[in-house]
Amino acid sequence: MTAPRAKTAHVNMMTDTIIASMPLDGLRMVVRGMLASQPSFTSTFEERTRNYISDTASRYSNAVIFEQGADNAVQVTPSFEIMRRRIRCMIGCGMCFQAPSLLQNIVDQVAPITLKSEPSDTNQEAVLENIASVDGDIVQTITAVQKTLFVESGVRELSAEETAPLDALLHSLLACRDAWVGKGQTFVLERGLDAIIDLLHPTLPDYHSSTITKCPSSESPHPMAETFQLDSTLRLPRIFTGLWQLSSPAWGFASRPKIMEQFSKYVSSGFTAFDMADHYGDAEIIFGKYRSSSGYSDSMFAATKYCVFHPMTVSSAAVRANVSERCHRLRTDKLDLLQFHWQFYDDPQYLDALRYLQEDERVKSLGLCNFDTEHMQRVVDSGVNIVTNQVQFSLIDSRPTMKMAKFCAQHNIKLLTYGTLCGGLLAEKWIDQDPPDLYSETMTPSQRKYYAMIRSWGTWDLFQELLRTLRSIAQKHCVTVSNVATRWVLDFPCVGAVIVGARMGVSEQSQENLASLGWSLDAEDQGMIEGVLERSRRTEMLESMGDCGGEYR
Ligand SMILES: NC(=O)c1ccc[n+]([C@@H]2O[C@H](COP(=O)([O-])OP(=O)(O)OC[C@H]3O[C@@H](n4cnc5c(N)ncnc54)[C@H](OP(=O)(O)O)[C@@H]3O)[C@@H](O)[C@H]2O)c1
Repeated sequence: MTAPRAKTAHVNMMTDTIIASMPLDGLRMVVRGMLASQPSFTSTFEERTRNYISDTASRYSNAVIFEQGADNAVQVTPSFEIMRRRIRCMIGCGMCFQAPSLLQNIVDQVAPITLKSEPSDTNQEAVLENIASVDGDIVQTITAVQKTLFVESGVRELSAEETAPLDALLHSLLACRDAWVGKGQTFVLERGLDAIIDLLHPTLPDYHSSTITKCPSSESPHPMAETFQLDSTLRLPRIFTGLWQLSSPAWGFASRPKIMEQFSKYVSSGFTAFDMADHYGDAEIIFGKYRSSSGYSDSMFAATKYCVFHPMTVSSAAVRANVSERCHRLRTDKLDLLQFHWQFYDDPQYLDALRYLQEDERVKSLGLCNFDTEHMQRVVDSGVNIVTNQVQFSLIDSRPTMKMAKFCAQHNIKLLTYGTLCGGLLAEKWIDQDPPDLYSETMTPSQRKYYAMIRSWGTWDLFQELLRTLRSIAQKHCVTVSNVATRWVLDFPCVGAVIVGARMGVSEQSQENLASLGWSLDAEDQGMIEGVLERSRRTEMLESMGDCGGEYR
């Protein structure tokens, strides 16, 4: 490593005192605040993180992460948590090709573990949960690797040098699976194994067929109480289940069998429509596996996305390749709904991409994601037929009512809305609570995102007033605060469905969410809600953030 230049090594003594003394949560807030206000620091932050990881690597090269306890049971050592944190930092700072060797080290230590026969052993459960969280880190590493492959012409191949550590990890995973299956133990790193096979050997979908989880049996889907017309032929439930929450262990992590269980439960209850994206971790893969092995696959609906976040040269080949990848991951030859996100409005190639998508016979319906009204208009004017736009829409972010709703009505386009529950902040449990501690272990990325929205919308006190108002309306209708928040959005005719995010296998509210359907807010309810909203900064939000999707650009 090169020695730091004297100037960059120097930090004011007072500053050093703060760094040494500030509690960790405070330090996190300060770093986040600095990066938010000075995004240009991000590359330095990442570079320093890489330096730290490299400089301290030798301390952890032979870390023992499992040991035998007094009763001969396996337990995790403190090194396990350190390794996991280091891996997550590596994924975050661009060391995704270095992380696989640490993951491989963990997998190699998982392989010889022999579980006790009693499945209810709490210590053993804790060990299995820790191993399952490594599965999540493997999935996230693969997602980070995939992001590095975007080039202007589409997606590039992995180099031999990049493939080597991934291949080594794959072989360790296969050896670990064989060892566990050989001992009659349920292999718990299936999601990581699938994700890596999908990356390295996409043409061998059943390479690992012995690990394919059987679809849990489920009852035939109950029809949902409210549906909407997507196009002339298809009616869909008015609540979709969102799978962004599968994209990172930061929402909690569940094994594939647990997720499959929850899919079955949702589908039986009528939640047959799911929203996912090319960049939501292994959401497409795991949903594709579930649907293709279910007896009710024809009743299910997958809305996925093609998101262009990097500059690219649009060509028919690149667009078709993305559709092929979506089909492959979803194990289907037709996409029910493909929602297109384009980051750069000043580059009009999005119109070409949408035209290619419209021409692709594998795309049954075409939608947009985070487009503003002006650019939706351009898409419609270009002759492309779109049926949906996915945007943020909630009591806290009512921008869609200001311009987009009218446009949607004129062109028969339905909104699919996210953020409607503010990541779970629009719920009873937040009444009379202090503002969330953004870095507590229980805060999810959704809550971080929507807490920032609440601060743009108004104060935490006004939000509390809103929650109390919603509670009194909820009591009148014998439902919950979340139901009222969902209902408020569903009552706008431009809304096709609300997408409610689900931490599959981690938490579950499907039955509660059914209570959002089959009724409407009356004039008195609307008046009470409006009494709070009119004191918010909702109109200024349109100006400061721009129309829908503006917060991403
Ligand atoms: N296109 C985009 O840019 C974009 C952006 C964000 C999201 N999305 C899509 O929209 C989906 C929604 O995600 P989101 O992040 O916006 O989250 P959200 O739907 O606003 O909130 C989801 C959270 O709400 C809580 N919840 C659900 N039902 C509840 C109930 N009945 N009572 C109380 N709490 C309840 C759950 O929290 P607990 O699990 O803690 O209980 C759940 O994790 C995503 O999965 C994704 O598909 C798209």
